[in-house]
Amino acid sequence: MSAKIIDGKSIAAEVKADVAKKVSELKKSGVTPCLAVILVGNNPASVSYVSGKRKALAEAGMEDRSIELPESTTEQEILSLIQKLNEDKTVHGILVQLPLPSHIDEKKVTNSISPEKDVDGFHPVNVGRLVTGEKGFLPCTPNGITVLLKKMNVETSGKNVVVVGRSNIVGKPMALLMLRKEFNSTVTICHTGTKNLSDYTKKADILIVASGRPNTVTADMIKEGAAVIDVGVNRIPDSTKKSGFRLCGDVDFEGAKEVAGFITPVPGGVGPMTIAMLIFNTLESAENFKAQND
Ligand code: GUN
Repeated sequence: MSAKIIDGKSIAAEVKADVAKKVSELKKSGVTPCLAVILVGNNPASVSYVSGKRKALAEAGMEDRSIELPESTTEQEILSLIQKLNEDKTVHGILVQLPLPSHIDEKKVTNSISPEKDVDGFHPVNVGRLVTGEKGFLPCTPNGITVLLKKMNVETSGKNVVVVGRSNIVGKPMALLMLRKEFNSTVTICHTGTKNLSDYTKKADILIVASGRPNTVTADMIKEGAAVIDVGVNRIPDSTKKSGFRLCGDVDFEGAKEVAGFITPVPGGVGPMTIAMLIFNTLESAENFKAQND
């Protein structure tokens, strides 16, 4: 049996079309959702992610106030810029693309963004809201994965969810989301300190892999019929490609698809959902802004 391929590209297109419709309605009332994406330096993966985000903003009819800064930018310059954007009532979302150059304190920068404009959901106030179940911005990648599971009608209640990876961007918020009553899963987080990873992954009804390492999960580590969500985006040198590389995930897709019930491809699985949820959050921020000013 071969797994159903979860088409993140087309599900993201549905989300984006829905957002675009709501943006055009909001614009009629005089509010244009506006996002500022800040990119520092020219890390190739970051440049590519930021260009994808800006393209989606334009397609949704949103205002793009993005700023691209040189690698030499100081921490103080970024903090001053964020302060200005925090105070600007026409800006609804602020996103600083990570990682930042090593001379800049990432936490200090993230924490300086107003929680009400933190469409990434990385500010400790929004992380706290995620933990306690209060309304706040949800991190885009984990939130996008919950949308994929819902659209594919994957049952989550009472199911074993195993998350591989404990990053602040994916692993931790992913586990917290699945723990919510809404999803009602039994959640396990595995990481580099986990002994005998396959003992855990084999028990997963839903296996979410965000380890940042190709082939972290192979076919023999997957329970028959499980939903496998691959968050990995690894660049493998490939001279047959124009770009000089090809993308692969953290799961051995070819082997895994013969065992899993559902699986996300890389590219075209989780990646497009991250961007769709970013414009969803930006719309939500603009709607919150309008409700407060009506
Ligand atoms: N770097 C990798 N993923 C992300 C993300 O979702 N948001 C930001 N700001 N930076 C990232």
